[in-house]
Amino acid sequence: METIHPDVETVLFSEEDIAEMVKRLGAQISEDYKGKDLVLIAVLRGAVVFMGDLMRAIDAPLAIDFMAVSSYGDGAKSSGIVRIIKDLDIDIKGRDVLIVEDILDSGLTLKYLMKNLSSRNPASLEVCTFLWKDVEGKQAAIDPKYVGTHCPDAFVVGYGLDFAERYRNLPYVGILKPEVYE
Ligand code: IMP
Ligand code: MG
Repeated sequence: METIHPDVETVLFSEEDIAEMVKRLGAQISEDYKGKDLVLIAVLRGAVVFMGDLMRAIDAPLAIDFMAVSSYGDGAKSSGIVRIIKDLDIDIKGRDVLIVEDILDSGLTLKYLMKNLSSRNPASLEVCTFLWKDVEGKQAAIDPKYVGTHCPDAFVVGYGLDFAERYRNLPYVGILKPEVYE
């Protein structure tokens, strides 16, 4: 039994669960991008852990790059405001771009990002999100091609996901105790 962080209410996805998802996604992406010019773009900072695992599960030539956007600040509620903090270093024109995200909630962040990136004329543009807060009565602004798993509409941390920059290093995904952010 692994020790659970005292601020975490329940573990949703264990290290083993996550490893299995990553393996499945990696195999699918390797198949789909055979003979393509794949560029993985991770959205900083939450997606770095997922990106690190996912890229090693992909058996195809690829390049990686990073973008940083801000939509949440340090709080738990979406502001809907997206700002580019760090842009790509490489040119994606004519290349097959796969955006790697930690979690899709409203999808506003990704919608903005996709619009921005498609204006640079990539050959293709898709999204791979580790988690999808896909709940009834709530429609995400975009439709991701690859999804690690669906997750309940709670504030989750770990495996790259933070609250006020903490908990990113937890090897599992858990629901944060509400008293921590209330
Ligand atoms: P969206 O624009 O509403 O889809 O928000 C997406 C971004 O909000 C993600 O990339 C995360 O950085 C952050 N976010 C949304 N939900 C959570 C959560 O439960 N825990 C940690 N970060 C979250
Ligand atoms: Mg974040």
